[in-house]
Amino acid sequence: MHCVRKITDDLYWVGGNDNRLALFENIHPIPKGVSYNSYLLVDEKTVLFDTVDWSICRQFLDNIKGVLGDRPLDYMVINHVEPDHAASIEEILIRYPEVKVVCTEKAVLFMQQFGFNIDGRAVVVKEGDTMSFGKHNVVYVTAPMVHWPEVMVTFDTTDGVLFAADAFGTFGALGGKLFNDEMDFDRGWLEEARRYYTNIVGKYGPHVQSLLKKAGGLDIKYICPLHGPVWRNNLGYFIDKYQKWSTYEPEEKGVLIVYASMYGNTETAANYLATQLVEKGMTNVAVYDVSKTHVSYLISETFKYSHLVLASVTYNLNIFPPMHDYLVDMKALNLQKRTVALLENGSWAPQSGKLMRELLGQMKDMNILDPEISINSSMREEDGDSLAGLADSIIESMK
Ligand code: FEO
Repeated sequence: MHCVRKITDDLYWVGGNDNRLALFENIHPIPKGVSYNSYLLVDEKTVLFDTVDWSICRQFLDNIKGVLGDRPLDYMVINHVEPDHAASIEEILIRYPEVKVVCTEKAVLFMQQFGFNIDGRAVVVKEGDTMSFGKHNVVYVTAPMVHWPEVMVTFDTTDGVLFAADAFGTFGALGGKLFNDEMDFDRGWLEEARRYYTNIVGKYGPHVQSLLKKAGGLDIKYICPLHGPVWRNNLGYFIDKYQKWSTYEPEEKGVLIVYASMYGNTETAANYLATQLVEKGMTNVAVYDVSKTHVSYLISETFKYSHLVLASVTYNLNIFPPMHDYLVDMKALNLQKRTVALLENGSWAPQSGKLMRELLGQMKDMNILDPEISINSSMREEDGDSLAGLADSIIESMK
């Protein structure tokens, strides 16, 4: 049975949801599931925009059949070849043998690498190329490294629909909803949108900026991403989020405290600092245990807040491993422009502060505050005074 949504008079969402997958890309937890969006345009020609992950291919095929009936599929536009969208290409090629595959030259190469035979069916397009499918005209806009090199987006100039590939995507299964105005995006969805962006695309901020500049010249009425809701109003809200995330500007003035604690003593120091901040008036404080929080959530929160406190015990004369992994991920995702305070703990040779400082020094525009706090095993009265001073220093740096 097909299960589709109509977007415009001629355009249908023919994707589906996966609530069973535990880890997106086999690395990021998705407790709320994920959608794989595909879109079908019914004009003088019929045009499919991207396919879906193999896990929902059966539903996808039913959806296409439900919309097309006995009509042939004339074109399949492939904006992105990552297998969460491309895995079902071959199934379409088998069922609709006359279909032409519209994509970039690099996408042809990737499809060959993934084992899809599109010989004789590829229509290679480049930046600015246009096509007409009848009433609907489209222009192809390349978006290299958002977040793969073959990526393009397609803009339907007739109805103002941007097929945005992974840009503007969101984790979370749709559960019958499709449009942004059918959900309370600020409650739950924004967190998952940020976690999706920062972990999947976050490294490529300058490339996202290039795409946003190109998109700024288009009269966009709908944004159709490959994951999550379709945007049909209030587009500026989400574009503004992308503007901040892709320039690594924090969304909020606030303090994210991430601690690594083996027996609770570093945790006590982290909570003491949080309490000092709140008592001194900075209530936008979030505290996380690095050992109990998946790094994808920490990365998302790190993009959100202006200030970061890293508190780590020393372990084998190094940074506690989960804290080290978090810092390495932060660097890999190009995080920058944050004010950071450091707190180390060690019973005989505290090292973690110096080592965290070295890693932060490899990132751009990270301002490390004084004083750096060093604790021996557990907090004492004088450590409390130092942490109160650090809270003052953090608040002062926000002015
Ligand atoms: Fe959703 Fe880059 O694939």
